Amino acid sequence: MNEVTAGPTPAVTMRSITKRFPGVLANDAVDFEADRGEVHALLGENGAGKSTLASILTGLYRPDAGEIAIDGRAVEFHSPKDATAAGVSMVHQHFRLAASLTVSDNIVLGHRGAGWLRTSPAVIDSQVEQLAKRYRMPVDPEARIWQLSVGEQQRVEILKALYRGARILILDEPTSLLTPQEADDLFETLRRMRAEGRTVIFVSHKLDELMAVSDRVTVLRGGRSIGTVLTRETTPSQLARMMVGREVVFAQTKAPHDVGGAAVVLELSDVTAMGDLGIQAVNGVSLSLRAGEIVGVAGVSGNGQRELAEAISGARPRKAGDVRLAGTNLPSGDPEGAIARGVAHVPEDRMGTGVSPSLSVADNLILKSHRRPPISARGILRHGRIKANAEALMARFAVSAPGPDTPTRLLSGGNVQKVVLARELSSRPVVIVAANPTRGLDVGATEAVRALLIEAASQGVGILLISEDLDEILLLADRIAVIYGGRIVGVVPRAEADVQHIGLMMAGSSK
Ligand SMILES: Nc1ncnc2c1ncn2[C@@H]1O[C@H](COP(=O)(O)OP(=O)(O)OP(=O)(O)O)[C@@H](O)[C@H]1O
Ligand SMILES: [Mg+2]
Repeated sequence: MNEVTAGPTPAVTMRSITKRFPGVLANDAVDFEADRGEVHALLGENGAGKSTLASILTGLYRPDAGEIAIDGRAVEFHSPKDATAAGVSMVHQHFRLAASLTVSDNIVLGHRGAGWLRTSPAVIDSQVEQLAKRYRMPVDPEARIWQLSVGEQQRVEILKALYRGARILILDEPTSLLTPQEADDLFETLRRMRAEGRTVIFVSHKLDELMAVSDRVTVLRGGRSIGTVLTRETTPSQLARMMVGREVVFAQTKAPHDVGGAAVVLELSDVTAMGDLGIQAVNGVSLSLRAGEIVGVAGVSGNGQRELAEAISGARPRKAGDVRLAGTNLPSGDPEGAIARGVAHVPEDRMGTGVSPSLSVADNLILKSHRRPPISARGILRHGRIKANAEALMARFAVSAPGPDTPTRLLSGGNVQKVVLARELSSRPVVIVAANPTRGLDVGATEAVRALLIEAASQGVGILLISEDLDEILLLADRIAVIYGGRIVGVVPRAEADVQHIGLMMAGSSK
């Protein structure tokens, strides 16, 4: 084996890993190594093969070829249980917790460690509490999962892995749903794990995060490993170049332009809507949007953004208030009507409400236009048109998939997001309500989506850009509205925006 090499045995060695899916070579002879006491980042464009490689390491997929060794010993994982037994665990892009059970139940669920059946709930609670304290991840062992924020749920996933003795922890895009503060807390936990000699494999598209938290970065491109670099010896632009294979231009910003005389395309007056838990989530929001204007809605996740977007798109009935689109009233709770009048909606929950996962890419691309020409003629769907539409949009939006007939659930996370954007942006909307449109996208795709939004605005579309990424809002928005507790607590033109002040408003401090 590797005894000839000078350094200590790596915690993880993957050699020549190959994994083929129908029509896709997802991993093509990939080599990957991570050490003990290391945070090792895995970087690559959407569809580069990161989640596939991680799933192979955790026993979810069997590789077609290649070898894996843990601490220098060859292993073969037939299931995630085998991987857990060898000390390898993964926190997935989509959490897998049981919503109605408690934190403690979820942590011990399915884990048949010695004496588990004889351990009393109180003892488990105190074990969970101690673990939570040691890693500075405060969480109430008796709380039920549905009561927790996304950040807290992620802590439960990590605690669950640690409870099972994970020495190698894989996190797949762990910060894409976290607030900046929660992300910082997560990095503290990861540093602590590193100090204990554990191995953290961290999949992310956010270059500044990788620079801050990782020791080394391995870059995948088109299923192949391009190379591994020491983080302290690299730069974000070098990483972007390795990832994309060419220079990436960062930070497009929308040229400020005067929309003062343009028509108001969207007007919200006193919009009120209930949240899922029966609490009023949107509390009297009034806001207007002119043709060609991008208004950013900045805020920490869970302050009514999703409900506001749905109250506009018709997906959620309003309790009170009016939404006027280009001067005409949009009835409450009428998504079909809103679509027909030109409201495009990029929802934040792309797998849940953005697409139908079991339908093909081509069908998802016509989900909202299948009743209209040219897609349908006299009530009959025209299959040639559907295919041509899909091929054109897949090319224009660089959707990477084996073909238009591929079921959407088989696409990588970022490519699902591109399908939603392609459908919504190509629908010739009057107004686009976009919630976190670049979340989960690689740097190249992020730049492309921002350019598309800017282009749409320049053609007179009004855009409500709801984003938890304040940097994104500062790049794109003409005006910035801050949402807190379901209310707009301030609106400022970008030229006068003060990041400190906006941050304070986002945290609920009005002064
Ligand atoms: N179960 C599957 N069946 C068929 N194809 C798959 C399956 N899982 C992944 N693929 C394909 O393999 C390729 C690699 O996907 P993977 O999910 O590993 O990418 P990724 O690097 O994690 O991308 P992202 O950044 O978008 O999450 C993609 O083309 C994807 O469509
Ligand atoms: Mg992925």
